[in-house]
Amino acid sequence: MSRKILITGGAGFIGSHFVRRFITEHPGDTIVNLDKLTYAGNLENLKDIDHNKNYRFVHGDITDAAFISKLFAEEKFDGVVHLAAESHVDRSITNPLEFVMTNVIGTVNLLNAAKELYKTNPDFIFYHVSTDEVYGTLGDSGKFTESTSYSPNSPYSASKASSDHFVRAYHETYGLPVKISNCSNNYGSHHFPEKLIPLFINNIKNNRPLPVYGKGENVRDWLFVEDHAKAIDLIFHEGKVGETYNIGGNNEWKNLDLVKLLCGIMDRKLGRSSGESEKLISYVTDRAGHDFRYAIDSGKLMQELGWKPSVTFEEGLEKTVDWYLENSEWLEHVTSGAYKDYYQEMYGEGK
Ligand code: NAD
Ligand code: DAU
Repeated sequence: MSRKILITGGAGFIGSHFVRRFITEHPGDTIVNLDKLTYAGNLENLKDIDHNKNYRFVHGDITDAAFISKLFAEEKFDGVVHLAAESHVDRSITNPLEFVMTNVIGTVNLLNAAKELYKTNPDFIFYHVSTDEVYGTLGDSGKFTESTSYSPNSPYSASKASSDHFVRAYHETYGLPVKISNCSNNYGSHHFPEKLIPLFINNIKNNRPLPVYGKGENVRDWLFVEDHAKAIDLIFHEGKVGETYNIGGNNEWKNLDLVKLLCGIMDRKLGRSSGESEKLISYVTDRAGHDFRYAIDSGKLMQELGWKPSVTFEEGLEKTVDWYLENSEWLEHVTSGAYKDYYQEMYGEGK
């Protein structure tokens, strides 16, 4: 049976990979991509599927309750995969309210509209894409599981934790069929160059300093974005209603080790002598409230749904670097305009 699915935030990094995957894997369904096109949303990310007959873009803001309610009433979606969010921790430290508006209020607006559709469509699904940052921080050992208690430390993770709680509450209170996944750090193509990996690729390419926060000892668990998109697809179609699934690459890297690996790949690709890019490393003041370590136990997803990552980190990183080097025009476009103004305001010309 053909279904109409709303994907929010489909013009962003993970959203665009997920839209592409969904269109390819489920050609009988229709996708509506709702996105505000903030600095992080870019329709160039989807230009290869733009003319697909089963795909439509809607420009809109999830914080606008009246607009959301009208859109749902008119379109009668069969399900929602909700990715739209303010996603960058550093920005949340500068402007927490924007994160409350989009990540909390925006999510509740979608839940209210979904609740109405569920009244006449018992097969309706609301899938909420969330982050491992809701669990807080780990010490040297252990991993986050689905039963780890929430302990968010940044305004970003507090807003995502709040949205997760609302999704759960709508399931418990109104019976809305929901699914939640909490994922670790993603990397890959079309990633806005404010996050560690794309920022550093762009800076190395342009011989700019690489601002490592603190001593570079914090640890992140990296997952290739296409493997995340595959996991969302699997959970949306086969995961159990009312459940949470953790998604991670079992791939922990200390920031400084990752930066050195990246510098080595870039030296090779750019024909620079070994060690040249590492000279750009510059230790800067640590991020406020910087979580020390994230590590995800994806055992439930692997055992129940048979998911596993498809690439090693070295393969994924190599593919990612190649994409950025081959897509200078994309980088040029996203690093002009609003992005540039923001960074000039925060860091001057340096970053
Ligand atoms: P992103 O910042 O690249 O994209 C977010 C998208 O949401 C953009 O297209 C933006 O225009 C859109 N958007 C923002 N505010 C909106 C609003 N008010 N109304 C409509 N659209 C709006 O983010 P991403 O990295 O692709 O993350 C997608 C989701 O996955 C987020 O919910 C994020 O919390 C979660 N997540 C991200 C990661 C990661 O490593 N990037 C890891 C785990 C979970
Ligand atoms: O864990 C999932 C989360 O991963 C997602 O929910 C977020 O949306 C996503 O942005 C990401 O959050 P992080 O804060 O971990 O990612 P970021 O790329 O900003 O930083 C990764 C690590 O690198 C972190 O320890 C901070 C450090 N860092 C980051 C930047 C941008 C630096 O040392 N220098 C930098 O310039």
